[in-house]
Amino acid sequence: MILFMTETLIVANWKENLDASEVKTWMQEFGKQESKRGSVQENRDPKIEVVICPSFPLIPLVSNFQLSSSSTLQPSIFQIGAQNVSEFEKGAYTGEVSAQQLKSLGVEYVIVGHPERREHLGETNEQINQKIKLCLKYGLKPIVCISELDQVKAINEVSHLSLPTSQSPIIAYEPLFAVGSGQPDTPVNAQKQASAIKKVLGEDVWVLYGGSADSRNASSFLAEKGIQGLLVGAASLDPVEFAKIVNYELH
Ligand code: PGA
Repeated sequence: MILFMTETLIVANWKENLDASEVKTWMQEFGKQESKRGSVQENRDPKIEVVICPSFPLIPLVSNFQLSSSSTLQPSIFQIGAQNVSEFEKGAYTGEVSAQQLKSLGVEYVIVGHPERREHLGETNEQINQKIKLCLKYGLKPIVCISELDQVKAINEVSHLSLPTSQSPIIAYEPLFAVGSGQPDTPVNAQKQASAIKKVLGEDVWVLYGGSADSRNASSFLAEKGIQGLLVGAASLDPVEFAKIVNYELH
């Protein structure tokens, strides 16, 4: 069972970067790049879904660009994602942002268990499990980050990710050595990891590759069978570069 009609998912993870004025500039430049190619709707393969994940407070700003017909961007050429979600459903958890709140802002996707959150904020498989459950409860699509196969197994034991459901999560394979290093994994190895992940979770699970993905290597990763998209960090901060990734061509 496939989550959606798209065949490729390209996700921009801006991390803790870009303030409000930088986001506006980014959107204008990205819009320009896209309109150079004419109508996005006509020219971009409609099977590619683009997701932009800003920091929480900038989500409404990004959705204004998403919805505004007066902007240079065509409406709905991208979906909005969040970089995290609270493990708690609601209540006295100062500073947390709930799945329900994200949904009410038009967010469609949530990155869960990013390796930087595991490393710097001590996020555990149990917390990740809770976050996945809340995403699914509120109709958000979790993009669950995995650096090692053990993490797939650990999350699967608590989350039963492989149970048939109309909302299977998406897995992003993010090897630690490749994240933020400028040293991507090889497409062949990423493909091997993708098939190992699918062996545990089922063939229908989507696997994205993340870790120093950019416009030079995007098409090699996406040419691999079993890799259905990219999670792009540093290279997504430059709208010209990100537009090139989104308009990748398979060679
Ligand atoms: P990077 O980040 O592209 O800067 O390596 C990827 C990620 O952390 O999702």
